[in-house]
Amino acid sequence: MIVSAPGKIILFGEHAVVYGKHALATAIDLRCKVYVERNDEFQIDSSLGKTGIDFKVHPYVSFAIKRFCEINKIKGAKIKIESSIPVASGLGSSAAVAVATLKALSEEFEAGLSDEDIFKIARQVEIDVQGASSGIDPFVSTFGGTWLFPDKKKVELKEKEFFLIKIGERATKEMISKVAEMKKRYPELFEKIIDAIDVITLKAVDGRNLDELIYVNQSLLRALGVSNAEIDSKISELEKIGLKAKITGAGGGGCIFGIFKGFIPAGSFLVRVSEEGVRVEGT
Ligand code: MEV
Repeated sequence: MIVSAPGKIILFGEHAVVYGKHALATAIDLRCKVYVERNDEFQIDSSLGKTGIDFKVHPYVSFAIKRFCEINKIKGAKIKIESSIPVASGLGSSAAVAVATLKALSEEFEAGLSDEDIFKIARQVEIDVQGASSGIDPFVSTFGGTWLFPDKKKVELKEKEFFLIKIGERATKEMISKVAEMKKRYPELFEKIIDAIDVITLKAVDGRNLDELIYVNQSLLRALGVSNAEIDSKISELEKIGLKAKITGAGGGGCIFGIFKGFIPAGSFLVRVSEEGVRVEGT
């Protein structure tokens, strides 16, 4: 069984969404492909290495198998992963691999999981690995397109193309803990920051002044402590040539994105909105 699922960019609202505020995210045209074959034991083969169930090397796939086996006990499977989503870049490679693995296992072993089931189990897998998850990454990877979350409201934006620049590696678990730490130390200030992010996200839904909103959201992510000097300096460089950019995803590294304005800034690559979520590619 071959299944693929897309990566995503969070346009607005990362971190705030973990605390019940809104976020706006879109699936992109980079996909993770998972091949599943029946087998007597579990084998996982990816660019990270060849292992059995291994919560260190392959945490998302291993927890996906564990959670799947709680619903549908199986003896084993050969699982091969090929992904065009750069890892640790904030582009949802972990959610995509969890979603595609769950769907491929469900199809191969005829477990009959619906896409809603897959989204819910993949969110649990993120909680298993990261300690917390809003579910936005697995939701967008499962269903494709652009969504306001947690409302699960489909959004149509005029902007369909974005430039991305990768700056180091994002660190989801650490950044989620860092933000939780800020909430503990400055609860009232924290509430005001995530409320402001919520206002930005809801304004962005109508598709106007996105560059301005990107600028303000990035300033607030910086206030939450998930930006860094390298990211800030790259963003300032882009501002000098008339572009706005912000972190996408957990931050601490990973990708920054901005709206494509007809030219590709140095060191960037282009992605497009993808309407297609998880899908069977072949048997
Ligand atoms: C990670 O892509 C986005 C975060 O908001 C975490 C989550 O929503 O689960 C940092």
